[in-house]
Amino acid sequence: MQHDTRAGTDAEARERAARRDRAVRGAVERGLIGPGSPVVGLLDVTGVREAAAGLRAAFEAVVAPGTPVLHAFAVKATPLVPVLRLLHEEGVGAEVASPGELALARAAGVPADRTVLDSPAKTPAELREALALGVAVNADNPQELDRLDGLVRSAATRSPLGVRVNPQVGAGAIGATSTATRTSKFGVALRDPGAREWLVRAYAARPWLTRLHAHTGSQGVPLPLMARGVAEAYALAEEINARIGRPQVDTLDIGGGLPVDFAAEPTAPTHAAYARLLAREVPGLFDGRYGLVTEFGRSLLAEQGTLVARVEYTKSAGGRRIAVTHAGVQVAARTVYVPDAWPLRIAAYDAEGRPKRGPCVVQDVAGPACFSGDLLAEGRDLPPLEPGDLAAALDTGAYGFAQHYAYNSLARPGIYGFAPDGSGGVAFATVREPQNPAEIVAESGGAHASALTTLRASASR
Ligand SMILES: Cc1ncc(COP(=O)(O)O)c(C=O)c1O
Repeated sequence: MQHDTRAGTDAEARERAARRDRAVRGAVERGLIGPGSPVVGLLDVTGVREAAAGLRAAFEAVVAPGTPVLHAFAVKATPLVPVLRLLHEEGVGAEVASPGELALARAAGVPADRTVLDSPAKTPAELREALALGVAVNADNPQELDRLDGLVRSAATRSPLGVRVNPQVGAGAIGATSTATRTSKFGVALRDPGAREWLVRAYAARPWLTRLHAHTGSQGVPLPLMARGVAEAYALAEEINARIGRPQVDTLDIGGGLPVDFAAEPTAPTHAAYARLLAREVPGLFDGRYGLVTEFGRSLLAEQGTLVARVEYTKSAGGRRIAVTHAGVQVAARTVYVPDAWPLRIAAYDAEGRPKRGPCVVQDVAGPACFSGDLLAEGRDLPPLEPGDLAAALDTGAYGFAQHYAYNSLARPGIYGFAPDGSGGVAFATVREPQNPAEIVAESGGAHASALTTLRASASR
């Protein structure tokens, strides 16, 4: 069979699946999943390292020697400190979009000069902190640029500064993750009347604006459209530099947004395929005149995560077989609320964590939350699931189990990293402890239990 050069190899895919199977088995043997902890997230450390190495190699293959390249992982995809530390060790920095994400990157030891701040709603305090630390900042809009003017005037900073533009090249298949639409809330809308001229003048007036940022993602956006977004940003950088008469814009931040194939095991498209496409479509980007920043999230981490949930009960309704599990909207909110856009593959394991084979039957894989749409998968052909079996939702390592949604006060599951133990087994490390009921009470106003019943008396005093 001809191999699709945009996809990872079948051998890599088989190895990843084999690692996952061994990890599920190991998690059962270690008691990480069981009646008392019926849902866990498992992270493939080998896979994370390989993905980071693949990303670095992909761009090393296309940039001119000596080009400064910063791959900044989009923390929003997997906001977990140990993951950020692992990626940092693998040469990947952090793209942050909130004070919380910046705190996570700092806790992981990601240096300021390997961190980029991009949020669309940065407060003055956030901007001040970023500039004091030396974190790179991309201004989202003219008002934010005004704020930066004031801050840059009042204090020296090492922060590289830029502006985010929206190249307005259009939407992909999923509206909610299409950032380059005509009316997107992100960046300066490049094709709006007067915007281009305003940008050129804004750079001309501010010699400290040295970067230009565009993120034309994400899931559902085809590669050629992403490349067009990058091409628009590159053309603008060329125009700014030509009009100013010197190479003031010295770095292009091309964002992230590489989609993930949730329907199959092989990685597709790969970072290498995207880098090659950019080298073909925007060759000047890599000729050594510009430094490069990338901000990939899902394409680095999605495939490295597996959500494993115990089947509590099975039942039948209206002729439909249903496995009621402990994973639903709290760990896979996008899939549950917009199932057609975010379908997940489900793998079935028996109670010992061995893959289940055999004739499939149509089943729903339901979650524990109290609304009927709480389904991980609907009408799916799977080996018949029984109570005590495990249902694993694959490719959930980004925008999945790490982003808990507290519906029904369901506990945040434990997350464990896994890697070969060197003697044929699997070693696990705790990435995040499972949440306990006392912690749920504490974050739900437990310390203020009488706050409302005593309000009237204290207010009238
Ligand atoms: C500015 C920016 N950079 C990077 C990303 C990461 O996108 P992805 O996880 O699709 O690579 C996002 C996602 O929303 C983003 O808004």
